Amino acid sequence: MELKDAIAKRYSVRSYLDKKVDKELVKEILEVSKRAPSGVNSQPWKIYAVMGDARDKLVKEACEKFDKGELEKEEYQVYPTERPDWYKARQRASGFALYGAVGIGREDADKRILQARKNYELFGAPVGVFVTVHKSVGPNGWGHVGHLIQNICLASVDAGLATCLQEAWAGFPNLVKRHVGYSDEEILWCGIALGYEDSNHPVNSFRTEREEFESYAKILE
Ligand SMILES: Cc1cc2nc3c(=O)[nH]c(=O)nc-3n(C[C@H](O)[C@H](O)[C@H](O)COP(=O)(O)O)c2cc1C
Repeated sequence: MELKDAIAKRYSVRSYLDKKVDKELVKEILEVSKRAPSGVNSQPWKIYAVMGDARDKLVKEACEKFDKGELEKEEYQVYPTERPDWYKARQRASGFALYGAVGIGREDADKRILQARKNYELFGAPVGVFVTVHKSVGPNGWGHVGHLIQNICLASVDAGLATCLQEAWAGFPNLVKRHVGYSDEEILWCGIALGYEDSNHPVNSFRTEREEFESYAKILE
């Protein structure tokens, strides 16, 4: 696949087929992704992929805790405290698109909670990938981990797979740590649902917008 096509074709997939992903393919995706650039080649990331029993146990416990309202303290601030208007508008639009696709109205709090819960089921994906960042690096280093994460998404598209990045897992750092065994020197950056898209599911039917070129880029000569 052309790289440009992989970039254009990637989108967040929130329902997956009950179809196993070959372990070697997962390894291949994670292996090529390490070519991501990082400042001074620091590679401040670690990756933990769960599938099979390891995946099922983690999902089961996360859902049980979610149902009991036992979310944990996040290790980093996921959303800004002060949200500028442009941020709020885009956040609203992405929520509107997601909930609209599955017919969940503004006032339907119960259904919104059920949709949020699907994060902890990995949206039915057979593989969960958890990416950590070393505690010693600041925002700059977190950006470098972002390069790795995007590589995972694009390599997955190239392999015929789909992904959804999930900061939702920042709500269960201790649980994920217990299951995958990341060290005290790491912070859980995000989870990634990985699998084959259920293209018939309405939740996968919408595409998010992007701003016009002129509003975010300028070419100066
Ligand atoms: C770091 C990161 C974390 C995200 N976390 C979640 C999440 O927890 N749950 C979710 O449904 N989508 C999550 N998303 C998906 C975004 O909502 C999505 O990327 C955005 O709306 C753009 O849509 P697209 O990915 O389909 O192009 C996350 C995206 C990023 C980059």
